[in-house]
Amino acid sequence: MSQYFTEDASVEAVNARMGQNINPRLAQVMASLVKHLHAFAKDVHLSQAEWDIAIEFLTKTGQICSGERQEFILLSDVLGFSMLVDAINNRRPAGATENTVFGPFHVDNAPELPMGSNISLDGKGESCRFEGMVIDLHGNPIAGARVDVWSDNADGFYDVQQPDIQPKWNNRGVFITGADGRYAFQGIKPVSYPIPDDGPVGQMLNHLGRHPYRPAHMHYLVTAKGFEKLVTHTFVGDDTYLSSDAVFGVKKTLIAPFEHVNDGQTIWRSPFDFVLTPV
Ligand code: BEZ
Ligand code: FE
Repeated sequence: MSQYFTEDASVEAVNARMGQNINPRLAQVMASLVKHLHAFAKDVHLSQAEWDIAIEFLTKTGQICSGERQEFILLSDVLGFSMLVDAINNRRPAGATENTVFGPFHVDNAPELPMGSNISLDGKGESCRFEGMVIDLHGNPIAGARVDVWSDNADGFYDVQQPDIQPKWNNRGVFITGADGRYAFQGIKPVSYPIPDDGPVGQMLNHLGRHPYRPAHMHYLVTAKGFEKLVTHTFVGDDTYLSSDAVFGVKKTLIAPFEHVNDGQTIWRSPFDFVLTPV
């Protein structure tokens, strides 16, 4: 039975148009989306001028997207939506290392390096030795784990943001654990940096009185056969932006020690074990 549109029955009018033989999950997701979207407009009594601004914002968000720039993911990140979807899909047992936001700066096929290698190729920053083990929930070492790492340089930029300034693969590398489950590499103590804020998402943050900074962190993508993929960071514990990360990525369990060693080999040492969850 078709239904004419009214303000009161707006949700029913739209959802009643769905066909009978459509994908049931699509029907469930779209029906809920329409319900909550209409409730939002009614809740704030959305004006036509406000909706026009929103359409212009979304248009600009799409227009700035390219192979290198994904403004919609950035929008999802600053709205806490990326972290929410990640949390819903990665509920882990106690003791397992938690996930956090992936971010736009991972690059596939970074060089696989001998354990202990230096990934900082531009000679900038304070050296830091990152080391620990990849283990299961019982503390057993995981052999053959792939530890893919990336961070910004001392100026707060990833190599892909400065292809003409930084050496290719600066502050990136892949390490494969041996039978002892250990990983180790030499990098720099990361620094805090702003997410790309020269587009509509940056303007939105500005209007909302929010800064665009992320607290200093080292990114990890850890994979091993028989275990869930771990997408995470370790954070530097004394960072100013720890409690106001622009993308809500900080979790207490991911704050790592950064010990000042200055032993002639390295200035800092950051030990951290990654505990993987079986699939
Ligand atoms: C990052 O940590 O690299 C990142 C995460 C989300 C948005 C922008 C950058
Ligand atoms: Fe990052």
